[in-house]
Order: sequence, then C-alpha cells, then structure tokens
Amino acid sequence: MTGPQGEPVFLRLGPPPEEPNQFVVEGAPQTYPPEVRARLEVDAKEIIGRYPNKRSALLPLLHLVQGEDSYLTPAGLEFCSEQLELTGAEVSAVASFYTMYRRGPTGDYLVGVCTNTLCAVMGGDAIFDALKDHLGVGNDETTSDGKVTLQHIECNAACDYAPVVMVNWEFFDNQTVESARELVDSLRSGTPKAPTRGAPLCAFRETSRILAGMPDQRPDDGQGGAGAATLAGLRVAQENGMQAPSGPEGQ
Ligand code: FES
Repeated sequence: MTGPQGEPVFLRLGPPPEEPNQFVVEGAPQTYPPEVRARLEVDAKEIIGRYPNKRSALLPLLHLVQGEDSYLTPAGLEFCSEQLELTGAEVSAVASFYTMYRRGPTGDYLVGVCTNTLCAVMGGDAIFDALKDHLGVGNDETTSDGKVTLQHIECNAACDYAPVVMVNWEFFDNQTVESARELVDSLRSGTPKAPTRGAPLCAFRETSRILAGMPDQRPDDGQGGAGAATLAGLRVAQENGMQAPSGPEGQ
C-alpha cells in the first residue's frame, strides 16, 4: 500500500502490541478434577442439547468454562474440545477470535471503558486514563484485591450514551471521570452501583454462566429497552411526518 506521495505505508496486522494475544498457561489448570468435570458435564449436556449440531454449542460452552475459571484455561479448552468432538486447534481458533473470551484471570468485575471514536472524544480516553491512575493498573490488569479488571473496549453500540463504561457487560451510560471513579470504588467496596439500564450486576463468573445460557436469577423489572437518546431520531421523524421511502415492489 502507498500513501498520497507514493511512499510505502506499512499496516500492522494482528492485535495491538499492548494487548495480550496468548492464553495464560502458567498456573492455569491443565485439566479439571473429576468432580468439576462431572458438574460441568451436566451443564454442557443441557447446552449442547439445544443445538442440532453439537459443534454449534462451542460459543456458550466457552462461556461456561470461563465461568469456572474466570478465563479460558487449557482445562477449559480441553473440556470444550472433548464435549464437542472438536480438535484443540478448532476450539482455540474460535476462542482467540472473540474478545469476550478472556485470556488471563479476571476480577469479580470486568470494567470496560469504551475508547472507540465517539466515546473517546466524549471523554472515554480521559476516563480510561483516570481509572488506570485511580486503580493503579494498566489495560487488562486486575487490582490486587481481585475485584476489578480494567480493560479498554471497542464500540458497544451505545454511542448515543457516550461515553459508556460497561461492567460485566452491563451499561453505565454518560459517564464522567468522577462518576467512573465512584463506580469502581463501589465495586471494590462490595456495594456495586446499579447499571443505568439492564439487570443488576453480578460477579464475572456468574455473568459468564448466564452468557452460556444457564438460568439468570436476577430480577427482570423491565430495565431493558431503548431509551430516549436511542429513540430521538424516531421521535423527530414522527413529529415531522417523515417516512422511509418505500422500496421496489415486493420489498
Ligand atoms: S463508540 Fe463507545 S459505544 Fe460506540
């Protein structure tokens, strides 16, 4: 590839150098003890039974073993491979593709600060830098009390509430440096703040089990749904009698 003056431009491929790209093996369980395996097999059987082809259950099974260890370990990958009759390479290829699968130990709360373009200019970069100082950790590192893992994340499709912080994938909208500091303090003190929308927070391992499709015991008080900012365009369109042009016949 060349630039405007014909000079060579080099594009770096692969993950950013500051991000982990290997599964942590040192100290990680290599295989599960029989009682853990037996317990996980019950859950795995239920999950696999929902799919016509067992290999389709790989994503939820990866969440299941992440719920056991807080990250993907050799034991977890091996378990998925055996349950689904996939090779280790097939499991690793999928596991290393998605950023929701963790490659190192994760604290009780995974705090993701969106530093994608819109959130960044609206304060996401400042929030991320402030939390690094406040918590004394870098990207993808966990506080010494094991409570908080800090991570910068890409767009979470909540740009209308920028800057957004996610805790265990629940939204905290319209954050500021100050509110984000208060948020992580609440997580470390054991009295976590409630998300702006969605269900109350639970610990990361529990979140992973819910993502695996296991029962979600949290109260559903109708916290979800689109908010005013998301619906602003629709409201303006309705107020002005605007309609999308109809497509070709039959579409
Ligand atoms: S840029 Fe942050 S949610 Fe989209």
